[in-house]
Amino acid sequence: MKKTLSRRIVVVGAGGHAKVVIELLQVSGTWDIVGLVDPSPAGDAVLGVPVLGGDEVLPDVLAGGVSSAVIALGGNRLRERLGRRAQALGFDLPAIVHPSALVSPSSRLGAGVVVMARAVVGTEAFISDLAIVNTGAVLDHDNFVGIAGHVAPGCALAGNVSVGDRTLVGVGSAVRPQVRIGADVVVGAGSAVVADVPNGAMIGGVPARPLRKKESA
Ligand SMILES: CC(C)(COP(=O)(O)OP(=O)(O)OC[C@H]1O[C@@H](n2cnc3c(N)ncnc32)[C@H](O)[C@@H]1OP(=O)(O)O)[C@@H](O)C(=O)NCCC(=O)NCCS
Repeated sequence: MKKTLSRRIVVVGAGGHAKVVIELLQVSGTWDIVGLVDPSPAGDAVLGVPVLGGDEVLPDVLAGGVSSAVIALGGNRLRERLGRRAQALGFDLPAIVHPSALVSPSSRLGAGVVVMARAVVGTEAFISDLAIVNTGAVLDHDNFVGIAGHVAPGCALAGNVSVGDRTLVGVGSAVRPQVRIGADVVVGAGSAVVADVPNGAMIGGVPARPLRKKESA
């Protein structure tokens, strides 16, 4: 019987998003998870994978011969920051793709990208470093997702859509062809985005309109 060699990887994060990433790695058949890193975990293990400690353990993990990491944090800004820090320490951030996802051979995935179950990354799409294409999201041809962007579960992005750095496209949203969504935008759940969106906006609804931001936001 053919034996496949698994590669060792550390998971940064131990919350809800990390749980899904851990399961992805477990079903991939490619990765052997050595542990989780989280400064304030809810417990000492997630799905049977132990928490090793806070970020301070990462140099020891690297010194122990584990050179791959995945940043499994849902917050876009935090994921970008910790991803860059892990790279600076010397970790490789591979793109992680669920076996049931469809990723076009002409698309490109940056470092640390995670593509979840049943997602589709279309022809000549470009997904930048540390972005998430979440469960069942469909990105059609020529899409662009910026650094640490997040296209949430069940979204449908038509052709030539651009999503800026650290932008969240909320669960179940649809985006019309050629629309450009800026950086640091939040698109509310279930929205229909039919026009370009400026940097830093929070929008929602069908069609999507600017939403009231909280005083503290
Ligand atoms: C848009 C969003 C960030 C706003 O959250 P919030 O800052 O806590 O704002 P509130 O819930 O107080 O809502 C503020 C206003 O926007 C409206 N609103 C909130 N979300 C909306 C949405 N998705 N579509 C339309 N209107 C929305 C609220 O009704 C409220 O309206 P009001 O001012 O008339 O009362 C949040 O509702 C949302 O949709 N998040 C997406 C989460 C997601 O998809 N995560 C992916 C996880 S995998």
